[in-house]
Amino acid sequence: MNLLEVKNISRAFGGLRAVEDVSLDVPVGSLTALIGPNGAGKTTLFALMSGFLRPDLGQIFFDGVDITGRAPHLNAMLGLTRTFQIVQPFASQTVRENIAVGAHLKFARRDEALHAAEEVAKRLGLHAQLDKPAADLTVAGRKRLELARALATQPKLLLLDEVLAGLNPQEIQEMLPVVHGLVDGGVTVLMIEHVMQAVMNLAQHVWVLAQGQLIAQGTPSEVTQNPQVVEAYLGHGTAARLLKSQQVTHA
Ligand SMILES: Nc1ncnc2c1ncn2[C@@H]1O[C@H](COP(=O)(O)OP(=O)(O)OP(=O)(O)O)[C@@H](O)[C@H]1O
Ligand SMILES: [Mg+2]
Repeated sequence: MNLLEVKNISRAFGGLRAVEDVSLDVPVGSLTALIGPNGAGKTTLFALMSGFLRPDLGQIFFDGVDITGRAPHLNAMLGLTRTFQIVQPFASQTVRENIAVGAHLKFARRDEALHAAEEVAKRLGLHAQLDKPAADLTVAGRKRLELARALATQPKLLLLDEVLAGLNPQEIQEMLPVVHGLVDGGVTVLMIEHVMQAVMNLAQHVWVLAQGQLIAQGTPSEVTQNPQVVEAYLGHGTAARLLKSQQVTHA
């Protein structure tokens, strides 16, 4: 069964076709990835899926419901939540209060939302930081907080926009089981990711976007061996990275 079905969606900004005629299906319970060079339209596609942007053409179905053009908070109520590539927590508020913002979607009462926030913090290894202002977190901590705020909405589908960006190799290693744990906990995950090692390790299926269009899909090793994909990345210095991460995985 597909949790999300995107049918032929397009979105232009003036003359720029940021997303063009993209269709994809996300099976329930899967961990899949969306990759592509900078400016390919990945974040725009997430914004269209989650309702932050309206498609010019096409339709989006979530859990069998046509959600095309529906507002983000209504989609979140249905169980579709995204994270943001640029994380912006409420800096002066505590980690607990920040996570509670997400939990308020499901819990009207303040004490219940705060309690739910603590449970989510435990799952994401943020328990020791609950009383700290968000401003005091490291980059890795802020990434976890962004994940926690999204998870606190109790999503069925989480769209993760580069949750590993800015992390060092050790922090990435620590984050991989966290992402995997979300899926083990019953959440379907679609992630935008430039860290190929993570894509190779986590994703069952990968979609490749270039200049607004889907140019390839398949298993991680299938897409990284696809000449069109390598071509799309050339000039961005990524072709070599793709090959290297494959060698690491296959070693
Ligand atoms: N609100 C907007 N108004 C005008 N142009 C936009 C807007 N949002 C995105 N774009 C443009 O659309 C294209 C796709 O941008 P998008 O942010 O979706 O790419 P991306 O694949 O997420 O890139 P990155 O890997 O760098 O995050 C880019 O050329 C970008 O400049
Ligand atoms: Mg982006």
